[in-house]
Amino acid sequence: MSNQPFKDKEQVKEQVLNAMNFRHATKEYDKNRKISDEDFNYILEAGRLSPSSLGSEPWKFLVIQDPTLREKMMEVAPGAVEKLKAASHFVVILSRKGVRYDSEYILNHMKTVQHFPEEILDTISEQYKYFQEGKNILDNERTLNDWSSKQTYIALGNMLTAAAMIGIDSTPMEGFQADKLDALLESEGLLEDGAYSASVLAAFGYRKEDPNRPKTRNSIENVVKWV
Ligand SMILES: Cc1cc2nc3c(=O)[nH]c(=O)nc-3n(C[C@H](O)[C@H](O)[C@H](O)COP(=O)(O)O)c2cc1C
Repeated sequence: MSNQPFKDKEQVKEQVLNAMNFRHATKEYDKNRKISDEDFNYILEAGRLSPSSLGSEPWKFLVIQDPTLREKMMEVAPGAVEKLKAASHFVVILSRKGVRYDSEYILNHMKTVQHFPEEILDTISEQYKYFQEGKNILDNERTLNDWSSKQTYIALGNMLTAAAMIGIDSTPMEGFQADKLDALLESEGLLEDGAYSASVLAAFGYRKEDPNRPKTRNSIENVVKWV
């Protein structure tokens, strides 16, 4: 990768905004069109490279291609039924539970992924404690796990945009019963003994037809305030 990840800035700006306009929450997929492995790996890479608070990467991307499991998921994810039936690829983004400053996960992550030198681990851990306490992240299990879940939405957004940049459609989805989906995934051995929980879903593929309504958004004046 070069220091400057683009050649022609104006062209890139146009491409990004075109992709943002092209992207819509796709309702129906063409079940005959499949995303190539190469293209799908690129979407996963956009997720993997996403930023996260403390660089904690509290996520996993479960790619659900098994038709039997997709079938079972339909019972607990009513908002995803059509996508589970026809989307080329279907991802459950899992979020890691219990990502406290002093958890084994964080300590191991600092050592083996972030390659922090051993002698600074205690200092960093102290800083993380200060940060997590100050943001009320440690108040209870819910606040801690919600903090992890928030990070997964950054990966989600990047994956949707990366897909749109190469003409691949997508749907982000929260339309599932959280406890039931977790129970199902746990029974399939996919949550690493309760270490993870389903955070948000995303389908990828090719639209069956163009959206029947143009994109609607608040005006820039309503959402931006310069001070
Ligand atoms: C986190 C999240 C969860 C969503 N959940 C669902 C869902 O369960 N089912 C669905 O059809 N659309 C879902 N949507 C799509 C939104 O309704 C859609 O993004 C919004 O109406 C804006 O439309 P657009 O994405 O087509 O521009 C979700 C979107 C987000 C970002």
